[in-house]
Amino acid sequence: MNEITIRQAQTEDILVVESILFDAVNWLNEIGQPLWGADEVSWDALSRNYKIENFYLAYSGGNPSGCMALVDHDPFFWPDVNKGESLFMHKLAVTKSARKSGVADALIEYFKKQGTERGIKTLRLDTHALRPKLRAFYERHGFVFVKIKIFAGDRHTAFYIHTLPDSVLAENKSSWNKMADSWFGVTALPTYGCLCPNEDELHLFPDLNGKKVLDIGCGSGHSLKWCGDHGSAELWGLDLSGRQLENAGKYLRDNNYKPKLFCSPMEQNPGLPQDYFDVVYSIYAIGWTMDLPGTFKLIASYLKSGGIFIFSWDHPFMHCVEAKDGQLMFSGSYYNAEPFSFQKGGNPVTLLNRRLSDYINALADAGFSVERVVEETDLAVLEREVEFSSDYYAPSKAKQFPLSLIVKAKKP
Ligand SMILES: C[S@@+](CC[C@H](N)C(=O)[O-])C[C@H]1O[C@@H](n2cnc3c(N)ncnc32)[C@H](O)[C@@H]1O
Repeated sequence: MNEITIRQAQTEDILVVESILFDAVNWLNEIGQPLWGADEVSWDALSRNYKIENFYLAYSGGNPSGCMALVDHDPFFWPDVNKGESLFMHKLAVTKSARKSGVADALIEYFKKQGTERGIKTLRLDTHALRPKLRAFYERHGFVFVKIKIFAGDRHTAFYIHTLPDSVLAENKSSWNKMADSWFGVTALPTYGCLCPNEDELHLFPDLNGKKVLDIGCGSGHSLKWCGDHGSAELWGLDLSGRQLENAGKYLRDNNYKPKLFCSPMEQNPGLPQDYFDVVYSIYAIGWTMDLPGTFKLIASYLKSGGIFIFSWDHPFMHCVEAKDGQLMFSGSYYNAEPFSFQKGGNPVTLLNRRLSDYINALADAGFSVERVVEETDLAVLEREVEFSSDYYAPSKAKQFPLSLIVKAKKP
């Protein structure tokens, strides 16, 4: 296979861009799948929306074989996204002679690399909604379907987004380092989450005597201490934030424990042993992962056969239900898979919204069997009179639906 190189286009490349796009237009017409009209890809038309340096050219065996345009603002297709917030791809094209030679894959990888180098967290694109092969191509490259919109009466357009994990993790890490000191023991066992039953009531953990445990997103180490106090023989923790781990290390050593702590994103294995742990758990940290299926697969690999995995996180309704004017209302879509950026303690962080099925299916794909799903509000809250409040974790909300989700699964 020929080597594929990609470079940014310059003024003298206008004809090259046109020739690649004309070639692709002709080929798509030939196979009865027209995408663009020839008039739409003349430089005359393109120059209304693009500068030549927005284009990137792929060469295969020294011949121009593909192109794409990358722009940092797309008010027509994505009017809600501010300039510079995302990177948008258009006019991805491959010549007839270069098809199926990896040129389109190379261009998509280059698109991701450009986004990461520019420190951008999301890549976006739109494509023909009624072309399943085209959509499958983007989905294979990790693009997540967002919505369909119909333009000009019959242009069914599918919108896709891809979150660049490195950019998000770098920002989240920096923010968690700044916040670490104010998150000392805030959510920790036996507490699972917000206004929900705790471990003393639920008894999801097995007897920890002599057991090896691993805390994913261990924060300040308070849950690990709880495990130590319940007899665990080995306390292991992993966290993205070095500052959290400094606090955890000191706190656990002050309490006469000798934890093994790893500074790493949970999306990667920093050297944790395989088939080793009796229990892996994560208290209000799992939702930070940029790669839920990959993280669950890693967790399954750390557990012994018969080992238990328990996690808690915001209930998926939390990202789309809002308390306003005395009522709870759907303020967003349950299906919205777009990354959600906000300020936490004055620091920028980004999370991915997920549905209940995303968690359960990712557990199944990692080989887990689900033993328990807890969607409960604390009895004391259910029984008492509460005032309506629009707070994120308001008791008035908790009376209507669980604010936290708790799941227990087993590695067969
Ligand atoms: C709410 S705290 C968890 C509290 C902790 N589990 C406890 O029991 O005390 C969330 C933690 O997740 C960590 N975190 C965020 N993103 C992460 C990632 N991608 N990988 C590993 N840890 C992450 C943060 O640094 C933070 O310490």
